[in-house]
Parts: sequence; structure tokens; C-alpha cells
Amino acid sequence: MSQDPLVIFTPSGKRGRFPAGTPILTAARKLGVDLDSVCGGRGICSKCQIAPSYGDFPKHGVTVREDALSEWNAVEARYDRVRGLKTGRRLGCQATVQGDVVIDVPSESQVHRQVVRKAASARPIIMDPATRLVFVEVDEPDMHEPSGDLERLRKALSAQWQIEDVSAGLPILKKLQPALRKGKWQVTVALYMGQGGEGSRILDIWPGLHESGIYGLAIDLGSTTIAAHLCDLSDGHVLASSGLMNPQIRFGEDLMSRVSYAMMNPGGDVEMTTAVRDAINTLASEIAEEGGIDPRLIVETVFVCNPVMHHLLLGIDPVELGQAPFALATSSSMTLPAVALDLTAINPEAQVYILPCIAGHVGADAAAVALSEEPNLSEDLVLVVDVGTNAEILLGNKHKVLACSSPTGPAFEGAQISSGQRAAPGAIERIEINPETKEPRFRIIGCDLWSDDPGFAEASAATGVTGICGSGIIEAVAEMRMAGVLDPSGLIGSAEQVGTPRCEPEGRTHAYLIHDGSADGGPRITVTQGDIRAIQLAKSALYAGARLLMDEMGVDTVDRVTLAGAFGAHISPKHAMVLGMIPDAPLDKVTSAGNAAGHGARIALCSRAARSRIEQVVGQIHKVETAVEPKFQEHFVNASAIPNSVEPFPILSSVVPLPDVNYGASGGGGEGGRRRRRRG
Ligand code: FES
Repeated sequence: MSQDPLVIFTPSGKRGRFPAGTPILTAARKLGVDLDSVCGGRGICSKCQIAPSYGDFPKHGVTVREDALSEWNAVEARYDRVRGLKTGRRLGCQATVQGDVVIDVPSESQVHRQVVRKAASARPIIMDPATRLVFVEVDEPDMHEPSGDLERLRKALSAQWQIEDVSAGLPILKKLQPALRKGKWQVTVALYMGQGGEGSRILDIWPGLHESGIYGLAIDLGSTTIAAHLCDLSDGHVLASSGLMNPQIRFGEDLMSRVSYAMMNPGGDVEMTTAVRDAINTLASEIAEEGGIDPRLIVETVFVCNPVMHHLLLGIDPVELGQAPFALATSSSMTLPAVALDLTAINPEAQVYILPCIAGHVGADAAAVALSEEPNLSEDLVLVVDVGTNAEILLGNKHKVLACSSPTGPAFEGAQISSGQRAAPGAIERIEINPETKEPRFRIIGCDLWSDDPGFAEASAATGVTGICGSGIIEAVAEMRMAGVLDPSGLIGSAEQVGTPRCEPEGRTHAYLIHDGSADGGPRITVTQGDIRAIQLAKSALYAGARLLMDEMGVDTVDRVTLAGAFGAHISPKHAMVLGMIPDAPLDKVTSAGNAAGHGARIALCSRAARSRIEQVVGQIHKVETAVEPKFQEHFVNASAIPNSVEPFPILSSVVPLPDVNYGASGGGGEGGRRRRRRG
């Protein structure tokens, strides 16, 4: 008796025998092969494309004849005529098995396809979105068997997709009847399927086959900026990324001043909640326009944020977060309808997922960094620092992960710096100071030339040289220390002490002139003693947080350091270490991860499994509270020196000798470095 034909799928390697005439899609489903289908095998969505291979396959022990699959049928021919099928491709729901065959499932036909992330070290995201599109054919109403349209839609979802327990809100009921009739009893629904065993919910419905896709927003809601990625929920690709300033800044620059605003002004929390929700609506509309989609196609949003932003987004008074023991209203992840947060610019049925918080000072943003960087899977001991107005710091390996947050303030983002500005064309982002001549040269954003290269004046004419951005100020201070313009305590020397007229008197202190554009009506860009103090405060807070985690872990060194954050990616490891922002480590072990919190939000948007994973991991992260830990203060004071008054930096000194200069305690340095910054 002859056997049924053998069907072998690649790359999964799954195989099975099926009677001749079985559609490839059916064989794939029976074997659990990941082959997409929105239309349920009706030959209209083209998601099920496969690529058969012919010839000898000794590895698989089969020979595939030219007639191993059925001939092209009318559906495929029509699809090819109208849309075009790539050479060698077939529709898996139309092509049937006729003989032994090897079938490749291309990545775009896989539901759980991998999305490659940009950073080389980053693990890919496996697509497993909570919301997907499903096409169904619904029975027409029958007077003799009365039932509602929704009930018949549910019956169809059960029969055709084995999806039970489907609910729908009023906005869907309003659209249901016209959609069914317009689509001639064929509709596509966007089905939200959540994580656990809860039922499914219809988020939208369209007549016939809906081909414009569905989308999600991954939002990193920071104290200073709100950044969003607009992602396609079918393949995870980012259509647009955009951001805007957090309008809550007008209520206070740092988090604690916003908490105080809420405490001192009745209704202040409501004002801040309204401001941030309005901004998110604006951002959603703008990013949808930039991505060329209707904002109502945005059916999911994921938020990552620090605890204060978390509460203000949810409309919860953050007053408890302003005082010990810093109790959160909830630290669990949350899933809720977008309308509950007044997010009216997107789909009215859209769902919101908020990552879990780790503790009262360590928020969902830190959880997102953990999801993105996975210190909990690391073999070696990794320190992950997400640099922002508040730094999120994680230290750990596969055995244990610790987390804290440290109030660095906005200096690293160019705020509170006399010539500071946001990273924008015209801002100085790189700087070098010649240790002999003490002359600087620099590069600005938007121009590839150094300031002493021929043609720089012309190349930079359009933007001008406008100020210094966060990564620029870090390099400037570190270079000043390396060139001996600055002593270890952070004092800028006078022109005589340093030997350059670029050290100018400024009140009782000195400033170092980087660029003088005043002849052309441009700014004079200097680094003042006040700027140095602001950077010392910020970097001391960052280092003290990292060092506290190292104490807790019982180590004096780490194997590697990952700098994350919107501008963390632009920080030069060498300069960060000269400054003493991060612990001493081999420079090639200091890498940048870009916006890790934003990446974490995107991973959670694309993957239900990732949501479950981070919920579990957060429960295992030990948080360390900086605010009540006396050791933090000690580390903070030691870290005020550049790089540090107590800790040796042996690896750093072996690669970057720092001049032994001292410009005297009477130079007007003030008490600056010993003042503890407020949490922000
Ligand atoms: Fe939709 Fe094949 S499953 S075209």
C-alpha cells in the first residue's frame, strides 16, 4: 500500500504525511508550523505565502517532483494578476499536496517572526502581539432562527478560528451591522487576546478584508521628554519615532517638585494629569501623520515611566511617592482601556499596557530597561545605567539583579548648563582640548567636520554653533580635566595657572572659552564653574547609585557597563570614565544600548510572552533605596572629585594619564560638590 505524501517544512523541520489534496495551510496547522493567515484560507489575505523546493534532498530523504503541489488555481492566478506573487511563491491555503514536498515558510509568512533589533548585541523580538486581525464569514440573519449579529459573529469566530469567549463594547456594536452588510457578511476584526486565559475582545471591525493593518504605540514617558515609536503590529517594524517635551515641566523641572506642586495646590495633580494626557494625544496624532496612517488604527499602547509619571498618567495623586516609605498605589503591570486615560486620539477601543514598577523609586522604565538589556540572563556582571533626569541603574547577572534610581537632575540633558541646549543641529557634541596648547576643537550636530578643519565655517553656516548638548558637556568637562584646565576637585584654573587666555575670570571663579561667535552675532560658548558644579552633582549621584549597588552585591568591580538612555548612546565611554560617572572598567567593555527603556516598551508592545517575562523578572529584582541609605551620601561626596577622591581608577589611569594640578581651595569653588541634589 502506498504511503501518503510526506510534507517537510523548513526552517522548523516539522514533517508529517498527509493525503493528496490536503492544502499546505492545513498541513501546517496540523503540525503546529507557524504559517500566518488572516482570511482563514480563503485566498484573499496572501499572508500564507510559502516557497516549495524541488529536486533531491538527501538530508531529508526525499525527492520532490515538479508536480508535488497542485497546479496554480484560479485564486492564485487572480491574486498574481492583481497584486503579484513573488517568483516561486504559492498561497499555502490554495496549493495542495500531491507528492513528497519540502516547503519553506518565509519569515514574512510567520506569525511569530523575529524582528531584528538594531544594536548588534540585542536579542531579536519574537512577534506575539496581543492584538491580531482575523477575517470571518458570518451567517446571514434568519427570521426562523432569530439571533443577534454579534452572536452569529461569535459563532463564526468559534467555528472558523476556535476563538471562544469574545466580547465587544458599544462602539463595536454600533459599527457591527453596517460592517457586516457592507462586507456581504464577511468582516475583519481586530481581536485583543491579552496574556492569560481571559477572553478576547473585539477592538475594531471592518467590512471585508481589512488591509491597512493595525498599529501600536510604545511610549517612554519621561520627566523631561515623551518619546514614542509607532509600530506595525503584524511585523513589529517602526513606522515613525517622535517625541515632545513633557508639558508638566511648567509645574516643576524634577519629579519631587511635581510631587510638591500636587501637595501644595489642591487639584494640582489633576492639572498635571490633564497636561500629560493632552500631550500624549498630540503626540499620537503627530506620529500617526508622520507614519502615514489613520490614528484610529492604533489599537494598543504600551507605557514605560518612572513611578511619579506612572501615577500622574493614571490620575493617581503621587503624594505618597514624595515621602518614605515611598508606597506605590500598585506595582503590578496594568491593562486598561485607553479611554480610561482620555487617550481619545487613537482607536476608541484601544488597550493600554503599563509595565510593572519595581518599587517606589524604581519604575516601569527600569523594568523596561531590564526587559531590553536582560541583565538577569547575563553570565558576567553587568552594570546598566539609563541616563536621564533620573538615572535607572541595574546591576546583576543570571544569579541576582539589583536596581536603584538616582536623582541626577537634568544637567546631562543640557539643562542647568550656561551654554547647554538639547541635542539639535548646531549643538557641540564632541570636543577635544590639546593638553599642550589648551586649544579646543569641536564638532557640532549636523556637520561632519571638526571646527579646525578647512571648510568648517561654510559647512556650519546654516546652523551656526549654538550651544553644548549633554554628551558635549560630558566631553568638555572630561577634556578640561585631561588637559589640566580643571583640577581633581573640579576647580577651573586662572589664565596664569593654566597658561591660556581661554580661562577667563567670571566673578570670583573662572570659565573656559570654547567658542566665541560674538563677532558674527553668535554666542560666546564657555564652560563656567557653575556648569562644572552641576555636572559634578549629576555624575556623583549616578556613580553613588552604581557604587551602592556594587556594595550590596559585595563587589568592587564590574565586568561590563552598558550606557543607555536617549543620550546615553552618544556618551563617549572614555570621557564618562574620566569624569567618574561610571566605575573603572576596560573601555572596550563599556558599550551603549541606545534608548533601552523605549526598546523595552517596543518589545512589550510586540510580545505577550515578553510581558509575562518581565512581570516575573520584576518580582525577582531586588531594589535598593538610595534616599534612605547613608552610604549613598558617602559615595556621593567621594564622587564629587574628578574622577573620585577615594576610589582608585587603575584601568583608567593606565590609558589616560590625568595631570596632577591643584588650583587651590580659595578659587571660589564654593560648597557646590558637597550639596546633595534633590531627587528628580
Ligand atoms: Fe489568506 Fe491564504 S490564508 S490567502
